[in-house]
Amino acid sequence: MGQLTRSRLTITPYHRPEASEQPLVPYEPYKSTIKRSPSKPLIFLPHTLSEVTGPIYGHTEIGETDNDLTKQYKEEPLGQRIIVTGRVLDSNGRPVPRALIEIWQANSAGRYAHQVDQHPAPLDPNFAGAGRTLTDENGAYHFVTIRPGAYPWLNHYNAWRPAHIHFSIFGRAFLSRLVTQMYFPGDPLFAYDPIYQSIPNEKARERMVSKFDSETTQPQWALGYKFDIVLRGPEATPFET
Ligand SMILES: [Fe+2]
Repeated sequence: MGQLTRSRLTITPYHRPEASEQPLVPYEPYKSTIKRSPSKPLIFLPHTLSEVTGPIYGHTEIGETDNDLTKQYKEEPLGQRIIVTGRVLDSNGRPVPRALIEIWQANSAGRYAHQVDQHPAPLDPNFAGAGRTLTDENGAYHFVTIRPGAYPWLNHYNAWRPAHIHFSIFGRAFLSRLVTQMYFPGDPLFAYDPIYQSIPNEKARERMVSKFDSETTQPQWALGYKFDIVLRGPEATPFET
């Protein structure tokens, strides 16, 4: 028996996600999903060794201000300063150290520093809206940024996205990549947002909503929000692009 064959026999596959805890595709109210989604049911293949163990990412050096979006320019950006912290966990609740987290977001007026976003809200010359960091040995991460504004989009009449920060996480392997969105508690736009509502299971949706955290909040300086991210398994954070 070859080594590869032996290895395959001992592979512990990842949990498959529960359908109701992931976005429905296509989801009629979210118009772009109609053209983007596969029209046939997915075919699940057995996991292979390289999918559950690799590759090991060669992370380029993370810069000093990469996790502080308020310090990337000479002046501070406008808006409510916030601290976003949490941990990245695997399907068994174990911390994932050295996971690469990248975030991107609109500015406090709800506008992205991107040429595709031309809606009439001001750009902030002191805010790019992009950051990255690595989790520490306990799977913990820390960002300082400003609270993004809600923004309009063209999905349907008077469509506005709830305020959110996009997250991309590279865990240990290809299959522990997660792209999701972090929301803020109590947003009145949840009920109207077809992206948020495309996940049928309410508890799964709520796993994308951060919690206000008075311990992380710093007096006279910034509000704290906690957002733990579970890469796979029954408590997995839903995949949302
Ligand atoms: Fe967005």
